[in-house]
Amino acid sequence: MDKLLIQGGTPLSGEVAISGAKNAALPILCASLLCAEPLRLSNVPHLNDISTMLRLIAQMGVGVTLDGTDGLLLDSSGLNNPLAPYDMVKTMRASILVLGPLLARCGEARVSLPGGCAIGARPVDQHIKGLQAMGAEVHVENGYVHAKATRLKGARIVTDMVTVTGTENLMMAAVLADGETVIENAAREPEVVDLANCLVAMGAQISGAGTDIVRIRGVERLHGATHPIMPDRIETGTYLCAAAATGGAIRLLKTSAAYLDAVVDKLLDAGCDIAVERDSIALKAPQKLKAVSLRTAPYPAFPTDMQAQFMAINCVAEGSAVIRETIFENRFMHAVELIRLGADIRIDANNAVVTGVARLDGATVMATDLRASASLVIAGLVAQGETLIERIYHLDRGYERIEEKLMKLGALVKRVH
Ligand code: EPZ
Repeated sequence: MDKLLIQGGTPLSGEVAISGAKNAALPILCASLLCAEPLRLSNVPHLNDISTMLRLIAQMGVGVTLDGTDGLLLDSSGLNNPLAPYDMVKTMRASILVLGPLLARCGEARVSLPGGCAIGARPVDQHIKGLQAMGAEVHVENGYVHAKATRLKGARIVTDMVTVTGTENLMMAAVLADGETVIENAAREPEVVDLANCLVAMGAQISGAGTDIVRIRGVERLHGATHPIMPDRIETGTYLCAAAATGGAIRLLKTSAAYLDAVVDKLLDAGCDIAVERDSIALKAPQKLKAVSLRTAPYPAFPTDMQAQFMAINCVAEGSAVIRETIFENRFMHAVELIRLGADIRIDANNAVVTGVARLDGATVMATDLRASASLVIAGLVAQGETLIERIYHLDRGYERIEEKLMKLGALVKRVH
């Protein structure tokens, strides 16, 4: 298994380009299942999760053609196997996103239940409840979700909690349903809006995406389209945190701060200078960071996917801060690894009290999930001496060419096999 070896202590400087958003690309790849005409995508990130999803839809009969460096041409005219098998779903929970489109396009679907993952149980009951409200016959048997529907009917759905992929699955199911579907308590994440924009480009009738009430008027069929994937706001936030923690000054290109207000606010509170331009964002760190408390919540509040990265900042900031994780029940696994590097963190249920220390010292640590790994990279960049991060396959799921981008910013990092 690959590891990342980091020599800490160098402030990041320079500029790198941000890739397309993983969490926008994943549902949009599934949207290609909804129509027989080609869907052409650009700014698609090269990530393991994207490759996994492409393998998943290819085994269903979707033609996948690479188009240039970050383009894809998806042709699901040959879709003939509405099955998402366990051995593929178990490696990526987002596979559940094929359920809605397969049901809408084929009238049936067999999708392995995604196992839990490190950060939580992550049930899909809201996905199922919504599809049943639209008239689907859904039952779970032998670890698979079996769903059937001659034609889904528009329905009013109120999800019990805000669910990003739940909202996305139901939106995709609704675009070919008979009548209007209203999703209340819908997720407002920018990636949901990017999916809606792609569906509208394909001929869907959707209004309210980005608010908590999304209305979808079903149509007979969709048509081919071209869509650029939005920039990855979490990758953007991760590099901003790395620059802040290392006392550096960087500029990130092909991205925007438009979807990062909550994160930018916290970085400003920590003492950073931030300059926002049309499609770039620059950060200059202060001499000494101030510890900043935060509470994760659905968009537009502070994103849970940035919680681990900000904890790394608080480890080396002045003072104490409380981080409250309200979305997932087990998303502090990076804390024990940060403590190995010398951090002062006390966990109490879903609160972490972080007290800044004068310095972190390099050590061998283990990545446990995607964003926890990013947190360890940030800490390793700050720590004195060498940090070796094991199990970095977690990182490769969501960060394109991370060591290349970090080296471009002056970090002393290399991948060891
Ligand atoms: C999406 O996961 C993202 N993944 C996650 O990013 C992100 O952390 C999460 O949204 C929250 O923003 C993708 O978009 C592919 P949820 P998702 O459904 O949709 C509970 C990353 O690092 N829930 O919004 O699976 C659930 O357990 C990943 O890129 C139910 O109980 O998250 C959680 O507590 C990690 N029943 C809460 O809702 C359901 O049917 C929010 O989960 C659905 C969700």
